[in-house]
Amino acid sequence: MTIDENRPPTSAHEIERYGGLFAKRTRGMTSSAMRDMMAVTARPEVISLATGLPDTTTFPAEDFAALMARVAVDSSAAALQYGPTDGLEDVKRCVVQVMAAEGTSVETDDLLITTGGQQVIDLVCRAFLDPGDVVVAEAPTYPGAVPCFTSFQADVVQVEMDDDGMRIDVLEETLARLRAEGRTPKFIYTIPNFQNPGGMTMSLERRHALVRIAAEQELVVLEDNPYGLLRYEGEPLPTLYSLDGGRYVIYLGTFSKILSAGLRLGWAAAPGPILERLNLGKQAADLCSSPLNQYFVAAYFAHRDWRKYLTTLRALYRRRRDVMLASLEEFLPPEADWTRPEGGLFIWARLPDYIDTTDLLARALREHVAFVPGRAAYLDGRGGSEMRLNFSGVTEDEIREGVRRIGKVVGEQVALYGTLTGVKPAERRKDAPVVPLRRKEAS
Ligand SMILES: Cc1ncc(COP(=O)(O)O)c(C=O)c1O
Repeated sequence: MTIDENRPPTSAHEIERYGGLFAKRTRGMTSSAMRDMMAVTARPEVISLATGLPDTTTFPAEDFAALMARVAVDSSAAALQYGPTDGLEDVKRCVVQVMAAEGTSVETDDLLITTGGQQVIDLVCRAFLDPGDVVVAEAPTYPGAVPCFTSFQADVVQVEMDDDGMRIDVLEETLARLRAEGRTPKFIYTIPNFQNPGGMTMSLERRHALVRIAAEQELVVLEDNPYGLLRYEGEPLPTLYSLDGGRYVIYLGTFSKILSAGLRLGWAAAPGPILERLNLGKQAADLCSSPLNQYFVAAYFAHRDWRKYLTTLRALYRRRRDVMLASLEEFLPPEADWTRPEGGLFIWARLPDYIDTTDLLARALREHVAFVPGRAAYLDGRGGSEMRLNFSGVTEDEIREGVRRIGKVVGEQVALYGTLTGVKPAERRKDAPVVPLRRKEAS
């Protein structure tokens, strides 16, 4: 269901016209919650804490112009031409640098340049999934992966998380239960760093455990890592890909959050036989990712300091995260709780059970503020009282004002509940445990 108010609703007659022709797999297809909300959140009066937009205003326009001019002068014909499906060698060498900054060594032959990291999820689904196949994902999971899983008719089993990421004890129980049912997951999907949407980071111990389980049970892991280099505090942790040594882990990386999302360039690093399948899928999907944009990336890495820009982004997002945490503390009632991410772009908040964040969004939009309702991150109806808040794409003033407005509508719901039930609003208890998302004290 889309919230785009400008588009007239599809009539029953129109649906009927094509109904019998659509593939069965399209019946379960769902629209991405964030994509739906883009039309609403693009309105200037709306403060959007919903979309996960990086702040592209920080990229110097004169650098963009100079680098594009350089591409035009040096590589015009090749940049305007089709390119190899697996991507330009120069761009792969940039990826090698980025992955080295994550402490991960990779050869250019292990890489496939893709149209955003999103395409890696799609290509992995294409390569591995038949209808009904099991995918294990985190609970909550990346809302943008949900339409991908549903369009390939996956049976997604979600495993609870806590402050240390995916709970490996629950994963082991889940795998044992599936095995008893004669079902083997095709892959385990995880976002180990500053998870989207939860903000949690998988501990080192759990990383080792996950890689060990994958090897013992011969299971593929899709490691989705757009945010690893956006760490604002704490020590970096090794990627699953590096711990695994190139056997069972497919790594997803992207230039979206360290350079530009508009380039639509990402990559997969994977064992050879898997890479070949992904490549075949990509040939069918789009032949190659934009050579023009790839030449831009190569020029950027050759003539600018990509690490310096990353440092700028880190400082900016860190401040915004801190403003959001302080605003939540100030404006949300004591019944609410939220995560304290050490990096990334998102905070995950949990409200009392009696508040439905999908309903709350309608009220919030009347106050001109938006967030992603928690249900978008689950495939089984959970998450009704949860919400994802983004702090990267909005100014500090907007964050404060946006959270104040959310606090207002949440406060109204809490008061209404109190009136109806006679239950007094809770005193703020900073040490109150919240399971499974425990609040982490700031370090
Ligand atoms: C966890 C995760 N994976 C994948 C993506 C896709 O990113 P892109 O296609 O821009 O590389 C995103 C984007 O927000 C994300 O948060």
